[in-house]
Amino acid sequence: MRKRPLKVALLGCGVVGSEVARIMTTHADDLAARIGAPVELAGVAVRRPSKVRDGIDPALVTTDATGLVKRGDIDVVVEVIGGIEPARSLITTAFEYGASVVSANKALLAQDGAALHAAAEDHDADLYYEAAVAGAIPLIRPLRESLAGDKVNRVLGIVNGTTNFILDKMDSTGAGYQEALDEATALGYAEADPTADVEGFDAAAKAAILAGIAFHTRVRLDDVYREGMTEVTASDFASARNMGCTIKLLAICERAADGQSVTARVHPAMIPLTHPLASVRGAYNAVFVESDASGQLMFYGPGAGGAPTASAVLGDLVAVCRNRLNGSTGPGESAYAALPVSGMGDVVTRYHISLDVADKPGVLAQVATVFAEHGVSIDTVRQTGKDGEASLVVVTHRASDAALGGTVEALRKLDTVRGVASIMRVEGE
Ligand SMILES: NC(=O)c1ccc[n+]([C@@H]2O[C@H](COP(=O)([O-])OP(=O)(O)OC[C@H]3O[C@@H](n4cnc5c(N)ncnc54)[C@H](OP(=O)(O)O)[C@@H]3O)[C@@H](O)[C@H]2O)c1
Repeated sequence: MRKRPLKVALLGCGVVGSEVARIMTTHADDLAARIGAPVELAGVAVRRPSKVRDGIDPALVTTDATGLVKRGDIDVVVEVIGGIEPARSLITTAFEYGASVVSANKALLAQDGAALHAAAEDHDADLYYEAAVAGAIPLIRPLRESLAGDKVNRVLGIVNGTTNFILDKMDSTGAGYQEALDEATALGYAEADPTADVEGFDAAAKAAILAGIAFHTRVRLDDVYREGMTEVTASDFASARNMGCTIKLLAICERAADGQSVTARVHPAMIPLTHPLASVRGAYNAVFVESDASGQLMFYGPGAGGAPTASAVLGDLVAVCRNRLNGSTGPGESAYAALPVSGMGDVVTRYHISLDVADKPGVLAQVATVFAEHGVSIDTVRQTGKDGEASLVVVTHRASDAALGGTVEALRKLDTVRGVASIMRVEGE
């Protein structure tokens, strides 16, 4: 075994960082054997140095993250601070000072992945970030390496545990959104400010990263259509059940049928109970990948939490250390396909639309005409009503989001349509 230890600077020692440090210590011998050299924790950068951190030598703790990264003898910087700054500057400095980087930072990778990859390449360094998408679940490496010889057409996943917990609660207990969110918060599944999760920002960042890797195309966060799940109601779940479906917040990255463009989006959607993603319960994550030769693959597991996320970080650390010992680097950014990323209007899917209408003769025909005029073909219609008011549930065949949008706009203008109660996409069929 090579004697010189590889030196690791740990930036951040919170939920994930503390578990990374723990596993580095408790599994030190196994890690050394797998890498071919020991790994040594050379320093730990935090914000609050006086906080007691079990298992961490206080002499290693510093608030000077930049100074730690600039020491000049660091082999790998593990960035688990999160957010854009100072994480971005620290990672860039790490490359300049000859280190490789392992990060769990989805927000930063989704926003600045291309620039960070370029900086890594300029300095012959690695940038690995398996933990940035779906915690412990191996996804980036399978897409980047195992499927490098295949052609991925679709990535469909539940990539946010908080929202899956909330939706699962609503489905299994009939609870409303707020009640389910309160329980998620009490159990520690939702943060005090749940916006990033419930409004789909977190999932959108992951969708951008997944789409970029799956389609060998740069996909920026701004390219991802995003709709949160705060408007999903108990009555949407009742409608879903009528159709043999449940509702999930999905990240969907797709190659267009002609293969000439891609889309990435995050929104709540109905999926059939028979689809493997429907059985993903609680805070678990799962990602369904469809490709030409492999067919359908499903990746499932804990998508967050200190130890699961640290597992992915450690896997990257081992890979990066091995590369360093070999004097090589792993795969960098692959964006050669440079496919255009289309907007939501080009997405083609099925829709479930709930309308409040006047309960009188001719309304159904009027509504059906609007759908036909916009080229949206109806699959099924169900009408219930009493006391002059009725509810009309229309499920369409596949249509573009632009056509559906035009249909809904025209429906709203009909005197007999009192309101559009809900519009939900139907996926996974
Ligand atoms: N938590 C998860 O389940 C999970 C899952 C997947 C990915 N991730 C990603 O992992 C990263 C870390 O998440 P986390 O949950 O571990 O966050 P966290 O618990 O808030 O920990 C952040 C750590 O960074 C330190 N820090 C903050 N600002 C700093 C600065 N300017 N200089 C030096 N240190 C600083 C904090 O110091 P103090 O300890 O002194 O406050 C803390 O140790 C994020 O990118 C997140 O998206 C997290």
